Amino acid sequence: MIYLNGEFMPLEEARISVLDRGFLFGDGVYEVIPVYSRRPFRLEEHLERLEYSLAGISLVNPFDRGGWRQRIEELIALNPWEDQSVYLQITRGVAKRDHAFPVGVKPTVFMMSSVLSIPGPELVREGANAVTVDDFRWSHCDIKSISLLPNVLLRQLAVEAHANEAILLREGWLTEGAASNIFIVRDGVLCAPPKDHHMLAGITYDVIVELAHANDLPVSIGPVPEEWIHTADEIWQTSSTREVLAITRLNGKPVGSGVPGPMFKRIYSLYQEYKHCVMKGENAVS
Ligand code: PDD
Repeated sequence: MIYLNGEFMPLEEARISVLDRGFLFGDGVYEVIPVYSRRPFRLEEHLERLEYSLAGISLVNPFDRGGWRQRIEELIALNPWEDQSVYLQITRGVAKRDHAFPVGVKPTVFMMSSVLSIPGPELVREGANAVTVDDFRWSHCDIKSISLLPNVLLRQLAVEAHANEAILLREGWLTEGAASNIFIVRDGVLCAPPKDHHMLAGITYDVIVELAHANDLPVSIGPVPEEWIHTADEIWQTSSTREVLAITRLNGKPVGSGVPGPMFKRIYSLYQEYKHCVMKGENAVS
């Protein structure tokens, strides 16, 4: 079951106009919210980022927090899986094709949910492959825009190199992955780039940083030069659907010892513990 402009309906019945600005211009924003045991994970943070993205493209939020919460809960209840991935998208609506904003047009609001597919035990045990590529996206990557063509092309470069993710470098500095945030471990310190307009402020990124702080793991948030990526002891990717995953091969070469490192194993188990707290309705980072 999906939600479209005020109604819940089966996916096959959903219809939108070909004049929708999401279709014609990629003029919209989105969110992906993981749901564990039918409880949305970090919902308030996702809704806050949605507000930020909407403001970033000058689109009025169609609902307040309560309105979103209620619709998301209903969508979760209408779908069969315990663990889900809720996708929501708001576009600038349907109007005659013209680049400038249309006047008096209602936004299109769409939500769907699918089964949450997180990395399996083998991938977690062995780690993923990544390649480094040039980050050729725009300079508002902090907005979760549905205009994902550059991300699509970058992820495809990874797939064609038999890798799971592309690690993006902008003028010699790490930004993020094609659809994830990237952390490295260097001399026992967890390093990540600071949130700025060249990367999406990941909700999972925040969870990892909070868990590291709460458990006295050394963290350094600051610019990460390309050289550190190639000499890192560990590399991880984080996202709502990949959780936290070690990258054990980069550009065909092993990262560190070529297996998920000790810091990854620690943070992975802390993340799983935290998830279980959330499933029981406890939201604190323990
Ligand atoms: N993407 N950076 C980019 C470019 C992303 O697309 C994502 C997530 C992230 C991680 O953000 P979060 O931890 O809040 O999921 C970082 C989602 C999962 C997607 O597009 O499917």
